[in-house]
Amino acid sequence: MNIEKLKNNPRMPKHVAYIIDGNGRWALRRGLPRTAGHSFGLENVKKHIEFASDLGIKNISIYAFSTENWKRSEKEVKYIIKLFDKYLDVFKNEYLSRDVRIIFSGDLSDERFPEDIRKRAAELVEMTKHKTSLTINTCVNYGGRQEILKAVNELVKIGKPVDEATLTSHLYSADLLPLDLIIRTSGEQRTSNFMPWQSVYSEFYFTKTLWPSFSKKEMVKALKDYMGRERRFGKEKG
Ligand code: IPE
Ligand code: IPE
Ligand code: MG
Repeated sequence: MNIEKLKNNPRMPKHVAYIIDGNGRWALRRGLPRTAGHSFGLENVKKHIEFASDLGIKNISIYAFSTENWKRSEKEVKYIIKLFDKYLDVFKNEYLSRDVRIIFSGDLSDERFPEDIRKRAAELVEMTKHKTSLTINTCVNYGGRQEILKAVNELVKIGKPVDEATLTSHLYSADLLPLDLIIRTSGEQRTSNFMPWQSVYSEFYFTKTLWPSFSKKEMVKALKDYMGRERRFGKEKG
């Protein structure tokens, strides 16, 4: 795998999103409880953050918990929140010394999250807001429709016209680069409420691989596939 060659390719995506699906199935297939799949999934998230950073990808979005995922069993939701707590510590211990900006998309003011988690997440955002090399956008309690409604309601409240530019500026992703590539693991070919506004011209890469098994090698395959595509944005072919 020639990382340097890949890295210097001008067609490399600048903003990649990961819909990290298949943790539960990965665990069940190994005779483990679904929750174990989330632990292994988190380890894989850390690996892919490092890899994307090595590749010079500027923005990474990780869809970790949707507004619909609250429908899961109390046990599973509790476990995911506990992992989120651990994830915040990883950020604190491993990323604060680096040029990495941490942001979150989704409603973190939701009182179903322990207050301590909400506070620590907000602190990380504040402490890293001037960093520039890499932005890690973790989508937690995120729903694309909820995000658009939030933006529209804010604009209505301040009496601003709702046009493309103003709406975009009120999304959680307002200052992120255009979303180039969305990778979804586990074989499902849907977006499950992920960034409907931002993804109208994104490229999609679907793989049957379950998230905890999604390797760097397969990431390279996804990137090469993406780099071979022609993005026309409505223009004629050729
Ligand atoms: C993705 O894996 C993680 C979250 C949605 C939190 P899943 O938990 O959806 O795993 P499957 O799709 O049930 O296998
Ligand atoms: C999508 O996965 C949400 C996340 C990866 C956080 P789901 O497993 O919740 O999606 P559906 O229910 O299969 O559409
Ligand atoms: Mg799933």
